[in-house]
Amino acid sequence: MIKEFPVELITGIEKIDLQHMELIARIKMLHESFLNGTNREKLAETFEYVKCYINEHFATEEYYMIKYNFPEVQRHQEEHKEFAEKYSKLETLFKKDSNSSDFNLDFNVQLIDWQKNHVMSEDMVLADFIRDREEVNASIKNESY
Ligand SMILES: [Fe+2]
Ligand SMILES: [Fe+2]
Repeated sequence: MIKEFPVELITGIEKIDLQHMELIARIKMLHESFLNGTNREKLAETFEYVKCYINEHFATEEYYMIKYNFPEVQRHQEEHKEFAEKYSKLETLFKKDSNSSDFNLDFNVQLIDWQKNHVMSEDMVLADFIRDREEVNASIKNESY
């Protein structure tokens, strides 16, 4: 586990934890790159990473939401969609060009905001729900022996 990973983000759901750890590590790297002078290549690399994060991680969470009939599914998916849209706008502007340090700052702000307002809140509600469901399923399985 990366040492900067906040313990309060550990959900015990391995796949989600690994994906969140990678996200937090990338946010940190991007922030460091901003402080040390923007490197356009690093920025491009982070944009690529976030594209994969959106595809893979959102699919992971949505798989669990559907599997366990998560009651807040609509709201959660809406937040994923909004993030993906914001990301996509920023990426389009970045590809067109110009001042990389502006993008670095905007991207940083977007990701830090996402970490605080979604990962540390909505995702934790979802993770609690998944854990409860998995515990119930495990105890039903045990009872049937
Ligand atoms: Fe989420
Ligand atoms: Fe998440």
